[in-house]
Amino acid sequence: MEWLTDRLALQCWRDGVVGEVAFVPTMGALHEGHLSLVRAARVVSRRVIVSIFVNPTQFGPQEDFARYPRVLVQDRLLLEAAGCDAVFVPSVEEMYRGSGQTRVQVEPLGSDLCGQFRPGHFQGVATVVLMLLNLVRPQWLYLGWKDYQQVVVVRRMVEDLAVPVQVVGVGTVREADGLAMSSRNRYLAEVERGQAVGVVRALQAGQAAWRAGTRQVASLQEVARVVLAQHGITVIDYIALRQAESLLPFPDAQIEDQAVVMLLAVRMGTTRLIDNLVFAL
Ligand code: PAJ
Repeated sequence: MEWLTDRLALQCWRDGVVGEVAFVPTMGALHEGHLSLVRAARVVSRRVIVSIFVNPTQFGPQEDFARYPRVLVQDRLLLEAAGCDAVFVPSVEEMYRGSGQTRVQVEPLGSDLCGQFRPGHFQGVATVVLMLLNLVRPQWLYLGWKDYQQVVVVRRMVEDLAVPVQVVGVGTVREADGLAMSSRNRYLAEVERGQAVGVVRALQAGQAAWRAGTRQVASLQEVARVVLAQHGITVIDYIALRQAESLLPFPDAQIEDQAVVMLLAVRMGTTRLIDNLVFAL
């Protein structure tokens, strides 16, 4: 496995690849969720490259950039075992080179949902993903549905800017009790970790109500809110029901027959957790 720390080394590796390249961008502190993307990307006759870059421009001033876990030695072992071909691990200086003046905005989508609570976050994500795509020049981009809005934002950018890459979404990998795997779960205190399962339980309760015929957005939100409260989760950024493809709100209080995704963002102490579930009958 190649360990590439600067752009030049990356270009040398890229120029030497004969077949197609599949790319998995990450911020490291890798877990099974990330590794499932690597495995999904691994197809015969393709090279898989992962980036590990804790991107400062997608963190707000009060957010966890400084304390975001950095465990490169462990990440390297995991990627090697998962059959990754190359890892791009640039420094902030190597990526932005003291400039970083140009930004990609996907609006209004990027200011909706998580964007409302994390101003500038999706601008940072779209910008760094486009930059990484330009450096890596992959045919395939693998993203996790765990970050549902991120997939929709990146797909929108790729389509709007005619970026020559195919975006593939991979299903969320969960802990045994259902909690969506996240690098941020390690911030949770023991009690919070116990309560955190309420997030997926709230989504499941929403889906159960949906399956039982509930179609009022407010009623479905209330079902989820009650389950969150039962698990001691009371600081809620949003409980949203949206059209699954576009993430647009439903025009009426009542959901008709469209595909629907429920998205949650909550705070437990200083940790922010997100999760989502696409409702299927
Ligand atoms: P990060 O949070 O490290 O996630 C990297 C990729 O792993 C994302 O596509 C994310 O959706 C996916 N992922 C995380 N947890 C997952 C899980 N439990 N199951 C499946 N996939 C999961 O997302 C980012 O980094 C950054 O915003 C990035 C795209 C790298 C841009 O900086």
